[in-house]
Amino acid sequence: MNKHLLSSADLDRDEVLQLLETAATMHDVQTRQVKKLPTLRGRTVVNLFFEDSTRTRSSFEIAGKWLSADVVNVSGSGSSTSKGESLRDTARTVAAMGVDALVIRHGASGAARQVSQWVDAVVINAGDGTHEHPTQALLDAYTLRSRLGDLAGRHVVIVGDLMHSRVLRSNLILLRALGARLTVVAPPTLMPSGIATWAKSDGFETAYELDPVLPQADAVMMLRVQRERMSGGYFPTAREYTVGYGLTRQRLSLLQPHAVIAHPGPMNRGLEIAADAADAAQSLVLDQVSAGVAVRMAVLYHLLGGQESAV
Ligand code: NCD
Repeated sequence: MNKHLLSSADLDRDEVLQLLETAATMHDVQTRQVKKLPTLRGRTVVNLFFEDSTRTRSSFEIAGKWLSADVVNVSGSGSSTSKGESLRDTARTVAAMGVDALVIRHGASGAARQVSQWVDAVVINAGDGTHEHPTQALLDAYTLRSRLGDLAGRHVVIVGDLMHSRVLRSNLILLRALGARLTVVAPPTLMPSGIATWAKSDGFETAYELDPVLPQADAVMMLRVQRERMSGGYFPTAREYTVGYGLTRQRLSLLQPHAVIAHPGPMNRGLEIAADAADAAQSLVLDQVSAGVAVRMAVLYHLLGGQESAV
């Protein structure tokens, strides 16, 4: 395994499967009364978050704590970055305290890779701009496999604001490595530029209409409309977006009975996903959150070299 986890492409298929297997062991800890393993005792993990986060930050914190690491949270707004300190200086300052791993979220694509060149610590990318979010892809794969089994040949449909989505990019790489068939759906304005070439080289399909694709899906992954990254009008009105691309109550009936629904969160209920879909029996939204802790425990464990016997 590489020293850092910066992209889904850092992992080959065997490493993904190994991480998911470890995550399954870690998941058992969650149901115990005493949720603590001694594995990373004496190791220090810093969560360095320059963008807002609920699930990713807290699940990395919980994951580190359940493995007995010391976990410190530093956020952009409460740190010296708000006094004008550069990312390089902040990262090197934190690393100079002797931390073993830096978990970083930043608004600039490529930030995690940059930081990995500036510090000796293990760097884990928890979301860099519109580029990648590999632990999200791992937890998505974990959750989909727990319902659908082996993903080889399974059809995963990813819908929504593809242009701004790091979750999309990490999932395309990881789900392809696991042999899934992939279709991405978005309005033309929210398709990343160059998608046709990309789809051809990476072997996925694209579509501008949702209704014909839904009946063929084994899983439908809805992505958030990322208004904070939008400078102009990507669609006329929220209502029109929902009519064209929302997973509405009416559209639920287009899904096969075994098909599952995923969303990385945070959800814009009523925009890209209706409450009926988010709370449906086939919705995996909370399973994804729960898997997030287990998967991040597995990542910390493998990258920080925990002892197998301690699990
Ligand atoms: C995603 C992110 O931050 O990239 N959320 C997450 O990590 N759970 C997706 C999003 O913000 O829409």
